[in-house]
Amino acid sequence: MVYLTAATKPDKMEQDEVESTLKSSANFPIGAAVNPDLLKRDSLYKLIVIKEFNSITTENALKWASVHPEPGKYNFSKADSIVAFAKRYGIRVHGHVLISVSEGSLPKWIKEYSGDSTKMEKIFKDHIQTVIKRYKGEIHSWDVVNETFDDKGLIRTKTQSNKNDNIWYKYLGKDYTARAFKYANEADPKALLFYNDNNQEKSERKLEAILNMIKCFKQEDIPIHGIGIQMHTDVYMSKPDFINAMVKVLKSNLHIHISELDIRINPKNEIGIDSIKRFKIQGELFRFISNFYKKDVPYNQQFGITFWNVTDKDSWINNKKGIKDNCLLFDYNYRKNQSYKAFIEGLTK
Ligand code: XIL
Repeated sequence: MVYLTAATKPDKMEQDEVESTLKSSANFPIGAAVNPDLLKRDSLYKLIVIKEFNSITTENALKWASVHPEPGKYNFSKADSIVAFAKRYGIRVHGHVLISVSEGSLPKWIKEYSGDSTKMEKIFKDHIQTVIKRYKGEIHSWDVVNETFDDKGLIRTKTQSNKNDNIWYKYLGKDYTARAFKYANEADPKALLFYNDNNQEKSERKLEAILNMIKCFKQEDIPIHGIGIQMHTDVYMSKPDFINAMVKVLKSNLHIHISELDIRINPKNEIGIDSIKRFKIQGELFRFISNFYKKDVPYNQQFGITFWNVTDKDSWINNKKGIKDNCLLFDYNYRKNQSYKAFIEGLTK
């Protein structure tokens, strides 16, 4: 073994030639949404996280259903283990998510709540502040609210599945998002607070609604520091639409987090697709996104690019019934796929 002294230590370029990783190729954080159980029991998964990423998002561990399953009963064990892991390896943790609408993220006692609004406001505030305070000094940034708007740009009155009411809207009214940010800021004035949503690059009306909300927040002194552009997308994605959306969000001067990136190669479940061709398109899109983020997002707005999961095996897309896609940079066998190289090219070009 050769030990490197300061004088013989290769500079960054030479090191990268030895082995580039996602994080070593980027000048901004590269993240992944992680599963604490896999970090414990799957050593290869853990190795990829340590080697490739310098930011992690708590995939499900901090959702209300995991962390606050019953009234007054908090369970921080999963989130604690992610935070401990991150501390050990010097990785940033981004907290996801304090308030969200989707059924899967909420426990029964919230979904079936039937008390009055004053009591609900207290539950809402206590939850936000208890979770944030628990990780003060450890988690410095949060998705405070997820998916307030539907694709028409209207505040959701129903859940994403349309089956149930948006409980927050029902009990707390249209300004619940603003109050969530206010409560979060009270609990940790130093934390960076994000609004996180999907399809902003697909729906102009949704994007307008979000930008409008941010404008109102600024006028009313509601603290907000960043926007999470989820980017669950696919090979049919439109580059001009992405550029348009990014140009608009950048004008907010907030931090921009590409917060949940994955690119499906077969979103329409077509039979007999030319997968070589699809992978090429996917690679080109990964290259385009990383290159755009590197070149066109000003340094002080670059919060990072986060993938939603680590490999195709743990991807939430592939854990939906009947879907077997390839939407990340590592495949089912944890090998880098061809898009890995393309994403790095975008970061270094
Ligand atoms: C997903 C998780 O990855 C899944 O494991 C879970 O079953 C459902 O939620 N947008 C979000 C994330 O903001 O919270 C979602 O995470 C994916 C879509």
